[in-house]
Amino acid sequence: MGTIKKLDQHITNLIAAGEVIEKVSSVVKELVENSIDALATNISISLTDGGLKEIVVSDNGKGMDEADAQMSILPHATSKISKEEDLFNIHTLGFRGEALASIVAVSLFKMKTCTKDSKGIMLTAKDGKIVSMATISHPVGTEISVRNLFYNTPVRK
Ligand SMILES: Nc1ncnc2c1ncn2[C@@H]1O[C@H](COP(=O)(O)OP(=O)(O)OP(=O)(O)O)[C@@H](O)[C@H]1O
Ligand SMILES: [Mg+2]
Repeated sequence: MGTIKKLDQHITNLIAAGEVIEKVSSVVKELVENSIDALATNISISLTDGGLKEIVVSDNGKGMDEADAQMSILPHATSKISKEEDLFNIHTLGFRGEALASIVAVSLFKMKTCTKDSKGIMLTAKDGKIVSMATISHPVGTEISVRNLFYNTPVRK
């Protein structure tokens, strides 16, 4: 009688996200690294309840247009590498395309972003999926709010 069962994809996604995002400081690290990679010169961080209630990181980096904002939260989606050779020539802090997807999997996620050539976008996501998207007025740059971290992964919490 086999006792080993293959876990379904929803559970494996949550476990994998918990490996990238282990604690509040992992979220802050990943978001700040993204701001630095976006060439921000100003980055602000705000934590409520030590970050478990809300983490907000905002920057004045290059921002994202609507298509990139939607792509950015998908697993294995990155603007930083595109082929195997690129792994030998990394000049950014991130390159895996994992961080935002992992954060989105274990929190209530809101992103506001705008580039110098596009309209501002506000996107909310839950359980790895986009819940709403709207056009907004926003300065060039990106603000990400991560609420209720680990609400669906009690062991990590
Ligand atoms: N603050 C930001 N400003 C502009 N673009 C951003 C910002 N944060 C994320 N992005 C875009 O979203 C993509 C996905 O971000 P994510 O952090 O998930 O992956 P990554 O930085 O490419 O790799 P890693 O998982 O190693 O951090 C980035 O490649 C980048 O294009
Ligand atoms: Mg990153």
